[in-house]
This record gives sequence, C-alpha cells and structure tokens, in this order.
Amino acid sequence: MIIQNGKTIHLQGRDISYVMFEHEHGDLLHFYFGKKLGDSDFSTFMSEWSDYDSDMYLDNLPQEYPSCGHSDLRMPAYEVENQYGNCISQLKVEEFIVHKGETAQVDGMPYLMKGDKNADTLEAVLSDKTIGLEVRLFYTVFDEYNIIARNAVIINRSDKPMKLTRAYSASFDVYKDDYELITLPGLWANERNLVKTPLMWGNIVEAENGRESSHQLNPFAMLAKKGCNEEYGEVYGLSLIYSGNHSTAAKCEQREEIRIMQGINPHGFEKVLSPGESFCTPQCVLCYSDEGFGKLSHEYHNLYMNNLMRSKFVHEDRPILINNWEGTYFDFNEDRLLAIAKKAKEAGAELFVLDDGWFGKRDNDDCSLGDWVVNEKKLPSGIKGLAEKINELGMKFGLWFEPEMISPDSDLYRAHPDWAIQVPQRKPVLGRNQLILDLTRDEVCEYVIEAVCSVLRDANIEYVKWDFNRPMADMPRPGFNHDYVLGFYKVMGAITEAFPNVLFEGCCGGGGRFDPGVLAYMPQIWTSDNSDAVARMKIQYGTSMCYPVSSMGCHVTAVPNHQNGRVTSLKTRAETAYMGTFGYELDITKSSDEEFEQIKSQIEFDKKIRALVREGDFYRLQNPFEGNFCSWEVAAKDKSRAILYAAKILAVAGSSRNVETVKLKGLDPEKQYREVQSGEVFDGAYLMNRGKRINYDMHDFATVIMEFEEI
Ligand code: DGJ
Repeated sequence: MIIQNGKTIHLQGRDISYVMFEHEHGDLLHFYFGKKLGDSDFSTFMSEWSDYDSDMYLDNLPQEYPSCGHSDLRMPAYEVENQYGNCISQLKVEEFIVHKGETAQVDGMPYLMKGDKNADTLEAVLSDKTIGLEVRLFYTVFDEYNIIARNAVIINRSDKPMKLTRAYSASFDVYKDDYELITLPGLWANERNLVKTPLMWGNIVEAENGRESSHQLNPFAMLAKKGCNEEYGEVYGLSLIYSGNHSTAAKCEQREEIRIMQGINPHGFEKVLSPGESFCTPQCVLCYSDEGFGKLSHEYHNLYMNNLMRSKFVHEDRPILINNWEGTYFDFNEDRLLAIAKKAKEAGAELFVLDDGWFGKRDNDDCSLGDWVVNEKKLPSGIKGLAEKINELGMKFGLWFEPEMISPDSDLYRAHPDWAIQVPQRKPVLGRNQLILDLTRDEVCEYVIEAVCSVLRDANIEYVKWDFNRPMADMPRPGFNHDYVLGFYKVMGAITEAFPNVLFEGCCGGGGRFDPGVLAYMPQIWTSDNSDAVARMKIQYGTSMCYPVSSMGCHVTAVPNHQNGRVTSLKTRAETAYMGTFGYELDITKSSDEEFEQIKSQIEFDKKIRALVREGDFYRLQNPFEGNFCSWEVAAKDKSRAILYAAKILAVAGSSRNVETVKLKGLDPEKQYREVQSGEVFDGAYLMNRGKRINYDMHDFATVIMEFEEI
C-alpha cells in the first residue's frame, strides 16, 4: 500500500514501512525503513530536519538517491559527466506518481511480476534542471511481503550528450548502530560462503565481482545488527535481479550512519546518453526482518517462487534426473548412455540428461563449442533417435548446451572469428580453451537463438542444462558487461518463450551464475560443481539465505568425490541432496546390488518428499560455518509435516559429542507428530522447545533424515 500525505510517502508492506519525504528545499530524503509504522503524517519528524539550512546541508541528510559532487560528499548513487564538463548534480522532487495495482517494469531485464498478489508502485520523478537530468525512482511494494523493489531510470533531458558513470539501483541510510555486512563470496566449487564484515566508523566495504554474477560473489548481501541470528535481530536484505557485474557498497559515515547501495558495479560501467535517451537499472529487492535471517529468507523464497520465476515448472514436481557427466565425461556412445538410462529407470529416475560432448567433434574440452550439430560417430541415431530410445524406456530426455561460448577450433569460429569477444591488439584470454560469443550484437544473439531452437525443435527434448564455463574477460569497453547481460536476457527470453514446456536448468561451471536474473528464466540452477556432501552443507546453507531450496540442483555423485577426493556414504550423499532438486550424476551401471537397492529407495523417498521440500518453509537450524553440525528442516506451510536433516561433520570420541539435540521450527505446538521411521510420537511443543535428540553413528560425515507427520 502507498500512503501519500502531503510531502510524505509511506510504503507499507505486510509488516514493514518505508518512508520518504520531500524536504523543504525539494530534496527527496529517506526517513525510515523497518517495522511497520502507523498512518502518521510524520510532520514532527519533518520539522527535525528543517534547521539544516547551511550550504553543506545535504552532507548531513539521508538522501533517497544520493547525488554527486554538490554538498553531499559521501558515496553517490549515480554520477553523470554533464555538458559543462563537471560531475556535479543535485536532484529535486518534481512529482510523485502512484501506479495502483501495478509492479514496476524494467527495460530489457527480468523484474518482479504481480502474479495474484496486490502490489503498488511509486514513481518519484526528480530532476536537476541546471544540467537537464531527470531521474525516475521506482518502488514496488506488495501487501503480502516485507519487500521494497527499487530501480531507477536516468534520462538525459538536455540537448547535449551526457556520460553516466555510476547508476546504482537503490540506496538508503540507516542510523548509528552496530551493523555487519554479510556477503556470499567464494570461488569455483566453493561458492556462497557466509562472510561477515563489521562496519566501523569510516570504513567502506565494497563487495563487487567484476564479471558475470559469479562464483566469487553473489549479488545478495545483508546488513545485520550484530548478534542477529536465525530467529532474532534486525536485518536488511539486498538482492539484485541481475546476472552481470554487480556491487554492494556500504560505508559508515561521519555521524556513524551507514549508507548502503546495490546495483551495477561502477567499475567497468559507463553509458553515454544522447539527448532524450534513458538508462534503466536492474531491480534491487530490499527486504527487512526483525526476526533474524530465517524470516528474511522466507520472504525471498516465497517472493522469488511466486513473483519472479516465470517457468511453469516452479510449483511442479521436478523430474529426478540422472546426468552422465561425472559417469562418463566425454567417453560415451549411444549404447553406454542407454545402459545408464535403463538402469536408472529401473531405480525410478525420470529424466536422462546427456551432458557435454554430444556435438561437433568434441571428445575433450578444446573444440566445437558453437557447432550444435550432433556427432554421429558417437550417436548414430542423432539426438532425435537417442531421445526416442530414452522415451521408449519411459524416461524424459534432456540435453546440455553451452550456447554463449565459441571454441577457436570450431566451424563457427572459422566462419565468424569476429563473433568472439576479443580486442584486436591483444591475444584473447582463453578460459577452458574457449571464448565467449559477443551477445551485445544482434546477429550473434539471433544465431544462438536459432542454433538452440533448431535442436529443440528437432527432437523430444524436455529439459535443457544451460552451461557457461569460463569467466568473462577482455571487456572491450566500459559498459560492455551490461550490454552483454541484456543480450543474454534477450536470448533466454526468446528461447524460453518459444519452449515453455522445456524445463531449463542454469549452470555456470556449477554455481557461478546463481542469481535472480537467471532464476527468472530457469527455475533451477546447478548449485556447484562440488557435489561432495560435506562441502555441499556449507554451499547449500549459504545459498539458502536468498534462494529457494527448489532452485538448487543437488546430485548424488560417485566417491571418492571428483572435486575434493572425500569419501562419504551413499546415505550421506543422498540425504544432503534431498533438500534441493534431486538427481544422480554417476555411472549407475557400476553400482553394486546393494548400492542399487539403496538408490532405488532413495528415489522413492525423494518422490514422497519433493513437493514438501519445494513448497514448505525452509529453516536453518545449525550452521556448518560455525561448528561441527549442520541441520535444516522443511516444514509444510500448514504445519502438517516436516522433514529434518541433521549432520555431524567429524566424529568425536566420547558419547556426549555423538548425541545432539536439535530444536525444530515451524510446527504447531498444539499438534502431535509421528516420526515416520521410528513410529515415535511427539508434541509439536516438545519438538520445538526441548528438541529432538539425535544419536549419530560413530563415524565422520554421519547424517540423519527424519520425517514428521501430524496425527
Ligand atoms: C560444468 C558443469 O558444471 C558440469 O556439470 C558439466 O556440465 C561440465 N561443465 C561440462 O563441460
């Protein structure tokens, strides 16, 4: 709901308020973002600011979209080089427009949709008449969520070109307190670690990644009061619906107020705006919780599943897949694939995914990307024939692509060397022996769209794994990264629209582009190339801070694990993978009879719980970044069922270290629950307040799964 009262604008979500007002000098100031306030006119508050009349007055005031170079010399949200050759600007309010019942639309990028929720959007129109600059700030607020989605449109209203060198999506100031910035940095095979950085007086934390949304840093951050935990404490979330070079910047300023902003990374960005031209920033989804990280995560999970992800599969059971990658790598032929598929089908798997190596002359990773034509030596009946044979087994068929890439050793490169991103003066930077196609060019986008669509048209392909296996590099000009992202969205939009019945899974050398922009098109993403159960505890725990568990691709792979050599039991690997979109990635024909029977019952179990895992509320119970235990739970929204996962990472001698009590959440204290495997009955209140005692087996990496059903 949007309440406008004179010069005050009050945005109200389910339990939150976001208030801004037009200062008597015309500046748009931020007043409050936090727990819901009443419908006051805030006039007393406004009078607190009226004595700021000095020449440097803005340096003390919380601006909604901090300007540059005038009297506020703190971090600006935007910067333009104007026709007079300087970067000074100051925005004044022109008008407020309320779009009732609408969400903001973002040009060329995914954004939150209204769905069946009630949403309103405020458009605050600001301008700097001296230089002919107009800025339109958009704020979407939903009645049912605690979120404010912001983006900005910057327009050159002058008659000369203007260079935009910085354009964050959102900024706000919070007052003196003990805050920490929590980010999700990492690297390949070790993504989304939870890292806390205290914000001390004067220090600036710039969390930025420099490329695609990346293994190195996820476009999600939290500003949390010290001591905030899963249940208690105030925390703000910032999540950018963007797959490119992003930044979250926070600074504790002179009066110890914190200014925080999120958007496109200014390093490597610029856009020259001709007269009349505009630039639209991606949407930044702000969230506030006064009940710790748990409530914040629930907001993002529900919002993204219902109002961001466009795929029809979001609320459907995802097929349990078997992928051949770690089972065969490039060494396969049709017979070997069919043998794996047949055995997997016997175990209950529903989808067979053919990974890398099916096209061109690709027997290793140094050729053929771009040549999306089947290798008939390996697959004599083609993709169509193979898909038919898989379908005859009673399984769906899925296929791997890496459409944004080009191998120097490919027919595509020989025909169009200029389609690869590179600069003429330098030897191009190869990553995994490949270059990236220049999706800033229309003809290249058209090629990619047609190359993928023609394969999809030609065979019964019901799933696509969309990979991206090297970091961006050789950016030819500032702003290129952003234009690339727009090209990527154009391609994804066209292909997913043409094939709405195909389930798409994002991938980027594992989890290197796990962001809301990708999720808008692909409802699941391969979470990490590291599928070791112990590494996955942290990776999945960190990822769940912002992203729904159903969006995390989680597979059981062979041991010793191919990434870190660790050996864990089949039980531990499956139990860790259940809280995601489940599958296998191994040569199941090599499983012993005993392992095969175990796989069969794991698949049966996942079929039983997958709808609950997808639709329930996810609770993090024990943090693997902080100790030897990791546990989490999914509880049905109606509190009728719950699944508990608990893990002891290393065995410790002495029985007391082998027993752990875990308190469940999200149950009804008045109800009774049966623990399905043991048949024991517990009160909801008992499980939540006293907790369930878990006796772990005495070995490393011991896990348990428990199912609770209301009786
Ligand atoms: C990286 C992915 O994460 C793997 O699962 C696999 O698809 C390979 N690429 C194939 O090259």
